[in-house]
Amino acid sequence: MARGVPFDQVSVLPGEPKSATTFHMRSLSRRQFIRCTSLAGGALVLGAQAHTSASESSIEILLDEPIGTISPDLYGHFTEHIGGVIYDGIWVGEGSRIPNQGGIRTALVEHMKRLRPSVVRWPGGCFADSYNWRDGIGPRAQRPKRTNFWINDSFLQRAPDGPAKYEPNQFGTSEFARFCKLIGAQPYLAANLRSNTARDFYEWVEYCNAPAGKTTLADQRASDGSPEPFGVRFWGVGNESWGCGGNFTPEEYATEYRRFTAWVPRFEVPLAFIGSGPNGGDVDWTRKFFAHLTTRDRGHLNDLYGWALHYYCGTAGKGNALDFTLEDWYELLGKAVHMEKLITDHWAAMAEVDQRHRVKLIVDEWGAWHHAGTEVAPTHLFGQTSTMRDALVAGLTLDIFNRHADKVAMANVAQLINNLHSLFLAREDKFVATPNFHVFEMYSAHHGGKSLRTVFNVSELAAAQNGRARPPLLAGSASLHERQLVLTVVNTHASEPQQVEIRLRGAALKSGSASVLKADDIHAHNTFAQPDACVPRDAQVDAKGPNFVHTFSPASVTRLTFELT
Ligand code: AHR
Repeated sequence: MARGVPFDQVSVLPGEPKSATTFHMRSLSRRQFIRCTSLAGGALVLGAQAHTSASESSIEILLDEPIGTISPDLYGHFTEHIGGVIYDGIWVGEGSRIPNQGGIRTALVEHMKRLRPSVVRWPGGCFADSYNWRDGIGPRAQRPKRTNFWINDSFLQRAPDGPAKYEPNQFGTSEFARFCKLIGAQPYLAANLRSNTARDFYEWVEYCNAPAGKTTLADQRASDGSPEPFGVRFWGVGNESWGCGGNFTPEEYATEYRRFTAWVPRFEVPLAFIGSGPNGGDVDWTRKFFAHLTTRDRGHLNDLYGWALHYYCGTAGKGNALDFTLEDWYELLGKAVHMEKLITDHWAAMAEVDQRHRVKLIVDEWGAWHHAGTEVAPTHLFGQTSTMRDALVAGLTLDIFNRHADKVAMANVAQLINNLHSLFLAREDKFVATPNFHVFEMYSAHHGGKSLRTVFNVSELAAAQNGRARPPLLAGSASLHERQLVLTVVNTHASEPQQVEIRLRGAALKSGSASVLKADDIHAHNTFAQPDACVPRDAQVDAKGPNFVHTFSPASVTRLTFELT
């Protein structure tokens, strides 16, 4: 988090080593943004044009070129004590009139189960390096109230007092573990390296993982309602240690990392430590960390399961999440696909020390980060209303992770609810799934599949003007699940369908079906009043033999599922 950097000055252009972390510089009234939205919609006539004819386009799926298994962890989530994510989003309290399961919002639990989520990161983000886990254990009525890390953000200064400013600690480790259990996911805890000690870290591991009856902390967990250990495997060792997590140099952080991870008790859990990796394209951070980590002993690579990369593709143009032009649409999608270069660049830098690639990449924060003004409550710092534009960012990004399933072990979209690239919005008793949720649900068909090399021979969009980023016209990924093939494709063209021949190398199609998320307006989004403005529609497709012609709708995300002969 580059604190104090105004949004408009934060670079998120390809090749520049900064994330889109910022404070809000703009906020529009509801009336203003409705007006802006309709103006932007009117600008659709300025469309980009594809260069080659449809008949030349093809997608080749190479069944004999597997890339790796698509871990369900690539479809992970992130929940921080920030704005309305925990309070109002996940936690409504046991006594609430809002339907809940022991204080956790039922609608959220039910929707999450549909995604078959495998992992959720908590409690931050920047908040993690200010958090004392001991504040969130024991009887809830006796837990202390603390100042939230984010209190100084200018957005919150205009907001009423409440949990976003003063952390009530009603949602602590056992509540988070319960949330994970309810939705069937594993917890991924981010430890405080900036303002807690190595001892606090290994005692948190003990609180979570030691068998009851063995230690005082394990007994404390049991009296907090969990006699069974949580068995937490994933532990982040700090967050953004180059910024809000302590302003370390990579060498200093490597020293701290070694100290924090030395001799942590295992309690029979194969602990997987995750290092605080680079901000976007900062390859220097990766290179220097790996070099310094291993100066004394290369064996320290064994204490590093994953290297956390953060990349926000930022926003495009001057508007907020709902107020964007057609050029802004293409620019944001172009920035989103920069993720691919970040993965391959850091992977190559890691290989300078870790030639056998023991350590994998963990993209534990990603998404679009727009200007303020579309949040559903005045306390929802970084809350934004996701549109079809964000849904396409999600599809493009998840396809990149699938295509690099050999390199990326986990990814966590930022953040689950009421925040940046959220899957849900909630305010009091109102709840709605965003188009991002639907992309995650469609793409969950890839979980556990074998990622296959997929070659897109497709025309390009017209060149970008003024150096603005441009996405490919079509992009996607494929996975094989025994005799079933899943192909997901994003058509970034805002107004033109794309007809493509899908060619299988090494198999033939028996039958197929499609699920398509699209809308007539690129600004389309779901609201509490209109929750189904953007939902996927299913269709049968007539797919037989080795080749099959399909037309991808404009501005759409498509999942094709085929049975193979
Ligand atoms: O996701 C919001 C913030 O972005 C996180 O707290 C931080 O890690 C990043 O800068």
